[in-house]
Amino acid sequence: MNPSDLSMPLNRRAWLRAGGLLSVAGACGSAAAQGAALRGVEAASAALAQEDGVWRLAFGSCARQSRPQPIWSRIAEYRPHLFGFLGDNFYADADTPDLLRARHAEFARLGPLQAFRRSHAHVAIWDDHDYGADDAGADYPHKLLSQQLFCDSWDEPADAPRRQRSGVFESYLLRARGRTVQLILPDLRFNRSPLLADPGRRNNYESMMQAARSGSTTPVPGWYLPNPDPSATLLGQAQWQWLEAQLTQPADVRILASSVQFAAEGSGWECWWNFPAERQRLLDLLRRCRVQGLVVVSGDMHYGELSRLDAPGLYPLWDLTTSGLTEVWAVPTPNQRRVQGVVAEPNFGSIEIDWAAGSLALAIRGGDGAPRLVHRVALDSLRLPPS
Ligand SMILES: [Fe+2]
Repeated sequence: MNPSDLSMPLNRRAWLRAGGLLSVAGACGSAAAQGAALRGVEAASAALAQEDGVWRLAFGSCARQSRPQPIWSRIAEYRPHLFGFLGDNFYADADTPDLLRARHAEFARLGPLQAFRRSHAHVAIWDDHDYGADDAGADYPHKLLSQQLFCDSWDEPADAPRRQRSGVFESYLLRARGRTVQLILPDLRFNRSPLLADPGRRNNYESMMQAARSGSTTPVPGWYLPNPDPSATLLGQAQWQWLEAQLTQPADVRILASSVQFAAEGSGWECWWNFPAERQRLLDLLRRCRVQGLVVVSGDMHYGELSRLDAPGLYPLWDLTTSGLTEVWAVPTPNQRRVQGVVAEPNFGSIEIDWAAGSLALAIRGGDGAPRLVHRVALDSLRLPPS
C-alpha cells in the first residue's frame, strides 16, 4: 500500500476541500461531527503553531459509562493540546447487534465525556470492551458492525480509510514549528488470534483474589500465557505492512498508543507479551527501519504504571500505562518490567515534550489532576546506536 494514501491528515485535507462537513454530518448522523472536523490533529497542530512552549499530550482509557466521570474536568484543566482515547472508552460488552447499537447510543449521551470531545482535539482507538466483548479478538461475531459504529461514534468521514480496512488502526502527524510528533494507534482486536489460557490458574483465580482481598500482598497474575505459536497474531499481515509504512515517515518523536501493554511481562492479562513472536517482530522492525524517538503509552489495566523494556540494539522502550478514567484494580499484579507505580486510583496520563530542554516528561495524574508518577526522558536517549 502507498503510505501517503493512508495518511489521515492528507485524507482530511482532501475531504475538507471537497466540502466534507455536510457529507460527514449526513453520513454519521451526529451533530458532533462538524466539530470533530475542526478539532482533530490539524486543529492541534494549528494551536501549537501559535505557541512556543511545551507540547502537552494527554491519554486515558477505561471509562465505564455507568460511573460518574468527574475526571474530564481535571483533564480539561490540564489543557492538553491533544487527548488520546486508548480504548475501553465505554463498555459495550454486546452479544447482539441491537445491544451493540444501544451501547453506542449510550456513549453518545455521556455528557461530560462528549462535552470534553467537543472542546478538545482528540484521537481514539478501541480496546476489547468498546470493540464488543471482554478480551475479544478476531472471532468477535459483530466486528464489521462494530467497525462502522466506531467510525460513526468517532465522527469519521464517510470515505475514511478506517471504515474499509481490516481494523480501525490509524496514524496521525502533529506538526508545528518545524517539529513533528507521530501518533500511531494500532488495532489490537480486529485480527487478534485466540488467547492462550492456563485453566488451572483460571480455576484458582477466585481463591487467589480472596487472599488478596484479605490483605495478602502476593501479586495475583491473570490466567493468560504467552502463545508460542509463531503464526498467532495481534495485528494481522495487512496491519503489519501498514505499520512499517508509518514507521518510515519522518518524525522527531513517535508515540505508539497501544490499547494493551507493550513492555509488561508476567501480568497474566492481555498484553503484547502474550504474543511473543509479534512483540519480537515489532522490536525487529524498530531496529531494521532504524526507528528513533519512540515511546509507548498503553491502557486496559485499571491502574497506572511505568514499564521499561531493554532489547538488544535498541534504546530503552518506555511504556506509560494509564488506566482507568473510572476503573480501578487494587489487587497487586506482577510485571517484571515495572519501574514505577502502580497508581491504583482514577487517572490519566500525560506526555510533555519540551523541545528547548530536549526532554519528555511521562506522568500519571490522579483524579485531582496532580502527578502521582513522573519520569523524565532525554530525547537523546531515544536514539539507536550507530549502525
Ligand atoms: Fe481492555
